[in-house]
Amino acid sequence: MKALITGGSGFVGKYLREELEEAGWTVYITGLEEEGAEGLPEHFCHLNILEQVAIENLLRRLRPDVVFHLAAQSSVALSWRNPALTVDVNVKGSVNLLEAIRQAGEPWPQTVLIGSGEEYGHILPQETPVTEENLLRPGNLYAATKAAQNLIGKIYAQAYRLPVVLVRPFNHIGPGQLPGFVAADFCKQIAEAEAGLREPVMRVGNLTARRDFTDVRDVVRAYRLLAEKGRPGETYNVGSGHAVEIRELLRCLLSLSKGDIQAEVDPAKFRPVDVPVLEADIRKLQTDTGWMPTFSLEKTLEDTLNYWRAQIQNGDKC
Ligand code: GDD
Repeated sequence: MKALITGGSGFVGKYLREELEEAGWTVYITGLEEEGAEGLPEHFCHLNILEQVAIENLLRRLRPDVVFHLAAQSSVALSWRNPALTVDVNVKGSVNLLEAIRQAGEPWPQTVLIGSGEEYGHILPQETPVTEENLLRPGNLYAATKAAQNLIGKIYAQAYRLPVVLVRPFNHIGPGQLPGFVAADFCKQIAEAEAGLREPVMRVGNLTARRDFTDVRDVVRAYRLLAEKGRPGETYNVGSGHAVEIRELLRCLLSLSKGDIQAEVDPAKFRPVDVPVLEADIRKLQTDTGWMPTFSLEKTLEDTLNYWRAQIQNGDKC
């Protein structure tokens, strides 16, 4: 099988490439000019998702069996600060890709569009855990762009019969994730405090939100299985099925830390709106693919903290 991963040199892309290569696939990845690819540079293609003709040319040249669309502005926090960029990359970028696939002609690749559990937004108590059919009430710009992508992807599947599988991953974490996401933000501060690079006081944001965390290594396996077994035109949640309060995530990380580290809530880290709970119903994914998460949250947090300890020790402060 030949795969093309857009935005493949990011956090998730690196794990997805590994997952696919281990399964015997040939993998090509795209990224912006300033990005590079570790390992197989000949399989790295410079591509700006805002340039539709360039995408079409690449598709005609490679003729992949599967396209995983990861290229995105993936930070909810950043979407509050840069809404226009978020809309451009997440909505226009997806339309460009789908249109390029259509124009490049058959045989069409199975296309896996990565959306977000954030699309559900303000879930009512009786709607938790949330199924794929739930009403979407996005609570932020990022969520709205991913909901738009889902609707657009469905239109391409229905109108042109493109084999598009729509995915809604909930929070995914692990070693290598950049700061700006909660687990990385917490682990980095703990590792810095342990190394004496900062006071043993962490700055944290909203601890009352409840989120459904999955290890990125389990998430990319779900993506591969959905490429192999997902039904075109259908949407699939990817998550653990259990929401955890951010306070609990912090408690678990502090219990893994060395020394006496305190946490202080910093109002500057709060968002204009933070939906209270996101918890996935994963029965559809499990029924269609047999997927099961294999990493416990504790193990993922431990690996992530150890990754940050090594980064700090190597002098890489990101
Ligand atoms: N980033 C961050 N940093 N978040 C914090 C912090 C902090 O110091 N303290 C508390 N939080 C809270 C946020 O307010 C939010 O409620 C929760 O922790 C998770 O925040 P993020 O890790 O930034 O992720 P997200 O939930 O906004 O979005 C992630 O999950 C989505 C799927 O549910 C991203 O990975 C998205 O790309 C993904 O689609």
